[in-house]
Amino acid sequence: MEFLELARKRRSLRSYKPDPVENEKLEYVLECARWAPSWKNLQCWRFIVVEDPQQKEAITTAFSEKNPGRKALNQAPLIIVLCAVPSESEIWEGKDYMMLDAGLAMEHLILAAAEQGLGTCWQGLFSEAKVKEILNVPEDVRVLAMTPLGYPAEERNPRPRKELSQIAFKGTWGEKL
Ligand SMILES: Cc1cc2nc3c(=O)[nH]c(=O)nc-3n(C[C@H](O)[C@H](O)[C@H](O)COP(=O)(O)O)c2cc1C
Repeated sequence: MEFLELARKRRSLRSYKPDPVENEKLEYVLECARWAPSWKNLQCWRFIVVEDPQQKEAITTAFSEKNPGRKALNQAPLIIVLCAVPSESEIWEGKDYMMLDAGLAMEHLILAAAEQGLGTCWQGLFSEAKVKEILNVPEDVRVLAMTPLGYPAEERNPRPRKELSQIAFKGTWGEKL
């Protein structure tokens, strides 16, 4: 599959079949995350794979009922939780490279999942404190995001994106490409 096709195919999916994710596929998506680039190659990211139904149920309590992604966390056979170790990254001129690096690794994982026919959905809106307690995450480690991982029970067309002319300039800010 060409990269553009993959990038367009990936959607945030919120409905899942109960079918398990093969171990090889799980390892494959994690391996793809491992090869993400990072600030000074510090690789601050960590992933927790959650499979236990009780743990998954507990995680949903860290989400507001209003979060449309909440129910998918219980439905999908796995949740992948994205953590990051701040001491393994740096903030430079106010830019927190941990956020970039962890995001890159997660997006590698998410695109690899789409390539394998698996669904995902970035989840950012939850109580970090609650998730840390449930998963026994150390005080000095951040829980940044998570995604359900499983075979999707829905297909969705791409959501609209801004035009290239709105987001890409030539030479100086605002100049037409
Ligand atoms: C950092 C981040 C956090 C997000 N948090 C949530 C969330 O808490 N709940 C949810 O349902 N979707 C969440 N999303 C999914 C976005 O709503 C979605 O990516 C966006 O609407 C574009 O749709 P698409 O991913 O299907 O292309 C999040 C996405 C990102 C990148």
